[in-house]
Amino acid sequence: MLFIATGAVGAVAVGSVAWPLISQMNPDASTIAAGAPIEVDLSAIAEGAIVTVKWRGKPIFVRHRTPKEIKEAQDVQLAQLPDPQTDAQRVKKPEWLVVIGVCTHLGCIPLGHQGEYEGWFCPCHGSAYDTSGRIRKGPAPKNLEVPSYAFTSDTKLTIG
Ligand code: FES
Repeated sequence: MLFIATGAVGAVAVGSVAWPLISQMNPDASTIAAGAPIEVDLSAIAEGAIVTVKWRGKPIFVRHRTPKEIKEAQDVQLAQLPDPQTDAQRVKKPEWLVVIGVCTHLGCIPLGHQGEYEGWFCPCHGSAYDTSGRIRKGPAPKNLEVPSYAFTSDTKLTIG
């Protein structure tokens, strides 16, 4: 199942309970449960948008970053980060950020394009992540985790 997390910047936010749905593909449920890789069609994700796909029972955020979001992520000094990682360590292509959408504090699902750093904001206890999915403020101890993924073409991404 493929879920649209948010539309363009600041549009619809994903709640921790329900995700707005635009179904684009429906892998067999047993396939997802088994953790088989899933494919994402990147051509359907507009610049600035975040799509949420489900993999191994977890939401995966696929974010098509804008030049501004990329620059903000790249310009951060490591000394400013509670869990220091460069943006380059977290992405394979600057315009695409792929992270597991589970807050590293207690597991809520953060809201995209929200919070002080306009990455994600976790409403459960106020953790703010930046446009690289790095924790910047709040109780979460770690950056949003980057899953195993690969670009199989210019418009296809395989997660898992
Ligand atoms: S679960 Fe996200 S801040 Fe606590």
